[in-house]
Amino acid sequence: MQTLFAKLSIALITIVVLMGAAFFVVDRINTRIYYEELTQKLNAPIAMYVTGQRDLITAGTPDLASLADLASHAMVINPTAEIYLLDKLGNILGHGLPPESVVHDRVDLVPVHQLLSGNAAMPIRGDDPRGSAQKVFSAFEVRTENELEGYLYVVLGGQKYDELASDIGNSYTGTASFYVAIAIVVLTAVVGLLVFGLLTKRLQKLNVEIQRVGASGFDTDPNLEASRSGGDEIDQLTRSFVTMSGQIQSQIEQLKENDRLRRELVSNISHDLRTPLSAMQGYLETLIIRGDTLSDQERSRYLNIARKHVTRLGVLIGDLFELSKLDSASVTPNLEAFSLPELVQDVAHEFQLDAENKGVSVVIDAISESAFTMGDIGLIQRVLENLMRNAIRFTPDGGTVTLSIRDRKQNIAVAVSDTGSGIPDKDIPRIFDRFYRAVSGEEAKSDSSGLGLAIVKRILDLHDSSITVESKLEHGTRFEFELPMYQQAA
Ligand SMILES: Nc1ncnc2c1ncn2[C@@H]1O[C@H](COP(=O)(O)OP(=O)(O)OP(=O)(O)O)[C@@H](O)[C@H]1O
Ligand SMILES: [Mg+2]
Repeated sequence: MQTLFAKLSIALITIVVLMGAAFFVVDRINTRIYYEELTQKLNAPIAMYVTGQRDLITAGTPDLASLADLASHAMVINPTAEIYLLDKLGNILGHGLPPESVVHDRVDLVPVHQLLSGNAAMPIRGDDPRGSAQKVFSAFEVRTENELEGYLYVVLGGQKYDELASDIGNSYTGTASFYVAIAIVVLTAVVGLLVFGLLTKRLQKLNVEIQRVGASGFDTDPNLEASRSGGDEIDQLTRSFVTMSGQIQSQIEQLKENDRLRRELVSNISHDLRTPLSAMQGYLETLIIRGDTLSDQERSRYLNIARKHVTRLGVLIGDLFELSKLDSASVTPNLEAFSLPELVQDVAHEFQLDAENKGVSVVIDAISESAFTMGDIGLIQRVLENLMRNAIRFTPDGGTVTLSIRDRKQNIAVAVSDTGSGIPDKDIPRIFDRFYRAVSGEEAKSDSSGLGLAIVKRILDLHDSSITVESKLEHGTRFEFELPMYQQAA
């Protein structure tokens, strides 16, 4: 009873039964009116015929014998006709019926005048002296020498008709329209239920699918065919559900991926923090336990190693802190106009010594001396430093690191390229991930954390810019990003 189909069916059957009953009643009334109109029109001449035969009233005195005679004649022609003779005021002067059956002694003349005027719509009903119901009738004026004496009033469908009607009417017209009404009700109900069944079946299918997909935690695709466009509300609903479940699915995937990355990050951080910490602990414990037996040289070597790990820890924590700061919405780049060639010059100087120590030469290739841009100078310097540090680290003795600046329509392109080891193709998509290091081996990993490029990418994101990388193994690598050109007001 809770299903939509059940509710619709109940509503439909109620409506159809009510309509069937209404049809039945209206049909009965119509039949009756039709019959009465027909009777009145067909029998209209009766009264005229009867009055035309003899003078029924002479100087106010009714000729009752003639009336009885004529009445019995008329009743042979139409057995339902009951004839009365009225005076000018509608009082009954005489009739041919059993006297005890006539209970009223006058008839209202208004309907009689209506009928005689000839322009009222039939059926017109008048008083029946033998009962309280209104009946159709026929009437005609009774005159002697153009003097109005009274009226001849003929009730059509009198008691005789009532008797017959209750016999035949019930058995024929009644039952016929009753069966027609029943047939209409049944037919409409069947067709309606079929249509509702078809419509609700689609809804039911959709409902089952929604429940199934929901129960599976949006792990399965809905098994529904959704047309591209158009269709009725159920089609639109189906389409919306298919689209929505797709979106929910991809959001769940995204959440899972985020969760996985977060776990990976936490485990990477703990690993990277623990390595220098435990190395440091080892050297310090050795110094404490065996301090007396160590030579000065060894002691200072151990202390230096411990200090190196402290520095490394400091850098790592600093990088992590910087990244989380860059991630938080609170950081907005502090935009100002500055000269890129000048910044590049500064960064080159900064790394001059490191590069010389490694036997790598640093070259600046700037086309214009005054390429101004808009950006956070401190953050852009971090980008260049991280790229330079990588480039020098991965370039062997005798190699070159080039810092170049080029004009690109509205932008200025800055590139850091080297002639170093290059990055394997399979690693390129991941080098910007946090903690990702393409070089394998603990040795290579011990003094890097894999955060440098993640910081670079984050800073450029904040500047609505992106970084591209081209690399060829054993030939070198080139990182490039663009910043907007800033036109100085003259
Ligand atoms: N110029 C380059 N040549 C070759 N490989 C590079 C170069 N720059 C980056 N890579 C590869 O990309 C990885 C990620 O670089 P990233 O700067 O993010 O981390 P890292 O340098 O290893 O550590 P950190 O910068 O935090 O000290 C590096 O480990 C290295 O394998
Ligand atoms: Mg780096």
